[in-house]
Amino acid sequence: MSCCHHCRDAENLFDRRDARRRLVRYQRRGPEGTTRLLVDALRAAGVVGATILDIGGGAGVIHHELLRAGAARATDIDASSAYLAAARAESERHGYAERVTYIHGDFVALADTVATADIVTLDRVVCCYPDMAALVEAAASHAGRLLGLVYPRDVWWVRAGVRVGNLGLAIERSAFRIFCHPTSAVDAAIRQAGFTQRLQQNRGMWQVVLYARDQRENSR
Ligand SMILES: C[S@@+](CC[C@H](N)C(=O)[O-])C[C@H]1O[C@@H](n2cnc3c(N)ncnc32)[C@H](O)[C@@H]1O
Repeated sequence: MSCCHHCRDAENLFDRRDARRRLVRYQRRGPEGTTRLLVDALRAAGVVGATILDIGGGAGVIHHELLRAGAARATDIDASSAYLAAARAESERHGYAERVTYIHGDFVALADTVATADIVTLDRVVCCYPDMAALVEAAASHAGRLLGLVYPRDVWWVRAGVRVGNLGLAIERSAFRIFCHPTSAVDAAIRQAGFTQRLQQNRGMWQVVLYARDQRENSR
C-alpha cells in the first residue's frame, strides 16, 4: 500500500460517511448521468469478456455496471480506503467480489505494479489530481483498447466554480484541491499515447469522453 500526501488528503475528504452516502444513492437510483453516459458508451463498444481498470472508482459504479454487463474481471485502485470498502461491499452483495482486485493507493505512484486492462476509466478523477499528465499518461499506458474519462469542462464558469470550491476546502482546512485541467492538454496527452477520440459529450460542468487505441498501436 502506498499512502502519500494525496492519499491522506483523499482519505479525509472521501470518508466513510461520504462513501456510504454515494453507495446508497447508487443502490437506490443507479449511476449518475455522466457515469451512465460513459457506461453506455463502453457497453456499446463491447465489454463482454473484457478486463476493467477503474481508477478512483469511488463506490465502484463503473466496475459494478460493467461486470454485470459481462466484463470478465476488474481492478479498482482508489486513494480512499472508505470508498474501496464500499465498492467491495457492493461486489460481495452481488457475489462477484472474487472477480475484483481492490488496491489502496495513488495510481500514479503504484502504476508499475498494476496490471493493464482492456478498458481503463477515470470517472471524475482527473479533477482530483495536480499532475494531470502523469495520471493520464499512466492510465493510457494501461489501456489496451478503450480509455474513458469524465472530467470538468474547460470553460470560465467551471474554472470559477473550481476556485470557489477550493476556497471552501481551504476554509475547512482541507489540503485537498480540485483542478480544472485544460481540455487541450488532456486530449493531447491521450492522443500522444496512441488513441483516437470516439465520443465527446458535455453535461453541465462535466465532459464525457471515450478514446479507442489506434489499430496501428494495437498491432504492435
Ligand atoms: C470525486 S471521486 C469520484 C469517484 C467515482 N469515480 C465517481 O465518479 O463517483 C474521486 C475518486 O478518485 C480517487 N482518486 C483521486 N486521485 C487518485 C489517484 N491518484 N489514485 C487513485 N485514486 C484516486 C479518490 O480517492 C476518489 O475516490
